[in-house]
Amino acid sequence: MTKRKRTAVLISGRGSNLAALIAASRDPSYPAEIVLVISNVETAEGLKVAAAANIPAMTISHKSFASREAFDGAIDAALTDANIDIICEAGFMRIHSDGFVRKWQGRMLNIHPSLLPAFKGIRVHQQVLDAGVRVSGCTVHFVVPELDSGPIIAQAAVPVFPTDTVETLQNRVLAEEHRLYPAALKQLAEGRVVIREGKVVFLG
Ligand code: GRF
Repeated sequence: MTKRKRTAVLISGRGSNLAALIAASRDPSYPAEIVLVISNVETAEGLKVAAAANIPAMTISHKSFASREAFDGAIDAALTDANIDIICEAGFMRIHSDGFVRKWQGRMLNIHPSLLPAFKGIRVHQQVLDAGVRVSGCTVHFVVPELDSGPIIAQAAVPVFPTDTVETLQNRVLAEEHRLYPAALKQLAEGRVVIREGKVVFLG
């Protein structure tokens, strides 16, 4: 097998997708290994997930920087120091500067808890319930400067029931996220997905 891709996960909270990525990468034949976790929130539960798995983790608080560019500069320095190949955003609640996104474009993924391009932004499950749609899901996409708009690698759908609450819908979608994200990272780490003319192309 070629060298496993050194992957950093960026988080702000719970870290359940981080846990799913770590679990997948425990298999030595999985083409990516999680070698760094960066949180912008010191109290993020996901930092405990990283610690329990013995994965180096650090907090870089956006509050310590005067601008988005300076904050991203600190993140970029940490990623570069750790020889990172791929970034996975997993519940990371900051918007990056264009320069950072351009530098990492094609090597940076995000997971979003809706079937994009529907229901971008925050409070996604509430948006879904308010709209009364009968199907929702999750999306793994490349990160581009425009929020929740990058080329889509993978999606999974779940039903939305009339009796759903934000919590029941979130749990149903999360179960799919935990399956989808490791599968999409695997494709990227194997070099089987690239962006061409703004769309994802699957190779061999
Ligand atoms: C997930 O629903 C993800 O799709 C969204 O933020 C949530 C993060 O959850 N971007 P967790 O921190 O991975 O548990």
